[in-house]
Amino acid sequence: MVFRKLCVLGLGYIGLPTASTFATHGLQVVGVDVNPEVVHTLRNGGVHIQEPGLRTLVQAALRSGNLTIQSQPAEADAFIIAVPTPFRENKLADLRAVEAAAQAIAPLLRKGNLVVLESTSPPLTTVGRVAPLLERSGLRSGEDFYLAYVPERVLPGAILRELIENDRVIGGVNRASAEAARDLYSLFVRGEILLTDATTAEMVKLMENTYRDVNIAIANEFARLAERFGVSVWEAIELANRHPRVNILRPGPGVGGHCISVDPWFLVEAAPELARLIRTAREVNDGQPHHVVELARLAFGELAGWRVAALGLAYKADVDDLRESPAIQICHLLQKAGAEVIAFEPYRQEEQVEGIRLARELPSALQGADLLAVLVAHRRFRSLSPSFAAQAMRRRCALDTVNLLQRAPWEKEGFKVVKLGEGIG
Ligand SMILES: NC(=O)c1ccc[n+]([C@@H]2O[C@H](COP(=O)([O-])OP(=O)(O)OC[C@H]3O[C@@H](n4cnc5c(N)ncnc54)[C@H](O)[C@@H]3O)[C@@H](O)[C@H]2O)c1
Repeated sequence: MVFRKLCVLGLGYIGLPTASTFATHGLQVVGVDVNPEVVHTLRNGGVHIQEPGLRTLVQAALRSGNLTIQSQPAEADAFIIAVPTPFRENKLADLRAVEAAAQAIAPLLRKGNLVVLESTSPPLTTVGRVAPLLERSGLRSGEDFYLAYVPERVLPGAILRELIENDRVIGGVNRASAEAARDLYSLFVRGEILLTDATTAEMVKLMENTYRDVNIAIANEFARLAERFGVSVWEAIELANRHPRVNILRPGPGVGGHCISVDPWFLVEAAPELARLIRTAREVNDGQPHHVVELARLAFGELAGWRVAALGLAYKADVDDLRESPAIQICHLLQKAGAEVIAFEPYRQEEQVEGIRLARELPSALQGADLLAVLVAHRRFRSLSPSFAAQAMRRRCALDTVNLLQRAPWEKEGFKVVKLGEGIG
């Protein structure tokens, strides 16, 4: 199939790079977002997302005249839905944005069009939720228009490269739909394109993230067991990973971000009686911030009145993303225990984080602190000098949830160092 005009709904971390990449590969692209601020920013030459290379790509796409930004979708040969799919308080998927996008496309749909859902979704969303809304147009999916689910696997920080180089799974509601979507994505994808059906493709995406979550959960459980038995989980994992068929991941303060901590719930929701291990893994990882605070309490006693310098708020090392971050949750739990928390997040120095006092520089977070809590393994924390910290702080206590501090130099400066996954001693 030949495509000339594309309409991308949702201009976030996924939709904006996707729309811009298609535009720089010759398609006429209408990028649509319901958030007026996003539309305003992009129309005025700004970019609302931090991602290496994205600003240059978006500007190139806009300058070429191939990318236009609108608040309403327009007729096109193909439509891509890349809107958010968070969960609600009760951990059930919130598909309102996907449904709104499908409803907005329906009146514009013409015979021979292709519609692609990219948003991570529970199994059967494409055939059970999106197809019926599009079919309100009077057209039949798979017969009059093509419909496919194409999951996104990019790594934040490397989105532009991975968008092009990663293998793509394309699931059609029928073979013709999968082939139509392949024709679209082969305009820029250099990885292998693998065709399947829509529900398999939905499962693939959820299985990938669930697999990571379950593996992190077992590492976290090993950490708790190691603490009980007075063993260093870090050493034990290193030794276990010398087995040729074992690859245990790193434990940590919890799992955050908007993918791995969210997507497994879509499988639990779809079949709770079958997804018991998946639910337990989620609960273990969600319980990790509480475990960290309890470890601190056991090691250092009641924390009421303590001043804590929290190093890092992002959900993982060397990213600026704070969504679902366990580090933020730990700060709130420490506050609840009566501690005063001053956080330093090198990737968000200008940011306001609800209820958390932020230091603009690391030294001001450390000044007068009783406890240094390393919550994220940002590269730049590795160069923190124990003697500098010792001089700045009131008490010499350190809690390391990511195995970033080298015990010996810190202990030499008189610090009591407590690490997640090691006995309190
Ligand atoms: N960010 C990632 O690394 C990543 C990776 C894989 C999959 N995903 C999935 O991709 C989807 C999009 O994620 P994201 O990170 O780009 O989200 P995002 O929050 O960065 O952006 C989504 C955008 O969609 C807009 N939007 C909401 N409803 C809309 C509608 N009806 N019409 C048009 N625009 C609408 C929002 O205003 C927002 O700007 C989600 O399902 C997510 O789980 C994301």
